[in-house]
Order: sequence, then structure tokens, then C-alpha cells
Amino acid sequence: MTIAIIGGTGPQGQGLALRFARAGIPVALGSRDGVRGAEIAAELNQRLAGAGAQIVGVNNDAAVAKADEIVILAVPFSAHNVTLEAIKAGLKGKILVDIVVPLSANDPKLVSMPPEGSATEAAQALLGPEIPVIGALHNVSATTLNTLDWDINCDVLVCGDDLTARMKVMELCNKLGVTSYNAGPAQSARCIEAITPILIRINISKAVPFSHAGIKIWAPSH
Ligand SMILES: NC(=O)c1ccc[n+]([C@@H]2O[C@H](COP(=O)([O-])OP(=O)(O)OC[C@H]3O[C@@H](n4cnc5c(N)ncnc54)[C@H](OP(=O)(O)O)[C@@H]3O)[C@@H](O)[C@H]2O)c1
Repeated sequence: MTIAIIGGTGPQGQGLALRFARAGIPVALGSRDGVRGAEIAAELNQRLAGAGAQIVGVNNDAAVAKADEIVILAVPFSAHNVTLEAIKAGLKGKILVDIVVPLSANDPKLVSMPPEGSATEAAQALLGPEIPVIGALHNVSATTLNTLDWDINCDVLVCGDDLTARMKVMELCNKLGVTSYNAGPAQSARCIEAITPILIRINISKAVPFSHAGIKIWAPSH
């Protein structure tokens, strides 16, 4: 089953493309510039050295068309709505996975939520009820994804108003070797998206001896 990653040329899109392809899932990596998409895809395939499935680089519209069912949106928040408007027609019958975090323009340690409540809810409002929008993968670091000999150090919280679509996206995320949790309706994205700037704050804090923090659902010790 081919998935598409829109804005797949950025660090997060590239990391996801590598991880999904290595897990055997063909990836259509989208860019506004199909040539750039093809160049980046070639570099990523070289890194994978034949392990797993192929990554094909094309323009964003062609990537959406190649996706069997799941299209991941991996652009900056400033490009969220304009990109969705551009690909909306091709999304009929597919699931949009929104990984976008509405970071503040001037400070990545803060969020600046849209009037709908979250990027996930803004996407659902823009696309309408016939295209299910699922929020996921907001709290996974691009550095972790791109460092292929590291395990992904966190769990994935998945939310959205369509339960069937949510379960499909959880199943897809689990192929990355993570545990996904059903985090409920799209409104939960208000909390999930807002965790990322806190992780960024912790990452750059001199108070902790690590970076690329993630979130983990963990049993408390008794
Ligand atoms: N980086 C992380 O660690 C991380 C972690 C969790 C979540 N996220 C979320 O994942 C998303 C992608 O992150 P990123 O760091 O990969 O982002 P990025 O590098 O800023 O952008 C990703 C891609 O989006 C496209 N893009 C950039 N500006 C655009 C514009 N004005 N209009 C349309 N497309 C544009 C570009 O692709 P083309 O030029 O090829 O079209 C770019 O390569 C963000 O929403 C971020 O919040 C990131």
C-alpha cells in the first residue's frame, strides 16, 4: 500500500519516508517541485541501499494520486491551509494524516493554535466531513527518524473524529516499531500538538542530559 508524504522533502518528511520505506511500505514523496522531490527520493533510496520498499519523488499532486489511501501532511504550519487547498480535490476517498504542529512563528518553544483549536481540526474544517483527518506523529523528532540505527524512543498518540480511519493510522504507525494509542476525537489534537513545543524546550534545556525527547505511556512504579 503506497502512502504519500506531502512536504516530504523536509527533515520530518524525509525521516518518515525512510522509516516507512524500510518497513516495506512504498512512499510517494511529494514536493512543490517534482524534480526536487525526485532528487531527495534518490538520496533516501541510496541511504536504504535496497532495504525495504522504494521511495518515489514527485510533485505534491502526483504524490496524492499515487497514495492508495493514506496521505501524510508534513509542511510547516504557515503552509498548512494553502497546501490543503491545493491538494483537496485529490484527497477524495483518502485519509489525511496531519502531523503539523502550530508552532509560534517567533518561538518554537510555544504554540499558536488556530481558531479551530488545532491544526488537525483546522484541516477537518477545511476538507469537510467526507475526508477523514487524523492527527498523529506530532511528538516524534526528525533527528530520531533520520538516525536509522536508533529505535524510535516514543509512543504515538493518534486522534481524529473517524474511528475507522484512526484505527488504520494506528496500524500504519505501529509499522514504525512504535506503540500507537487511540487518543480520541480530533479535539484531542489541541493537547497532542501542544506537547511538541514543550519537548523542544526540554531538548534545548541545559537542565537535561539528553535531546530528541519523546513521550512514552509508562506504568508508574508502585
Ligand atoms: N522537524 C521535527 O522534528 C518535527 C517533529 C514533529 C512534527 N513536525 C511537524 O512536521 C512538519 C514538517 O516539519 P519539517 O521540519 O520537515 O518542516 P520544513 O522543513 O519547514 O518543511 C517541510 C517541507 O514543506 C514544504 N514547504 C515549506 N514551506 C512551504 C510553503 N510556504 N508552502 C508549501 N510547502 C512548503 C517544503 O517542501 P517543498 O519545498 O519540497 O515543497 C519543505 O521541505 C511541521 O508541521 C512540523 O511542525 C516536525
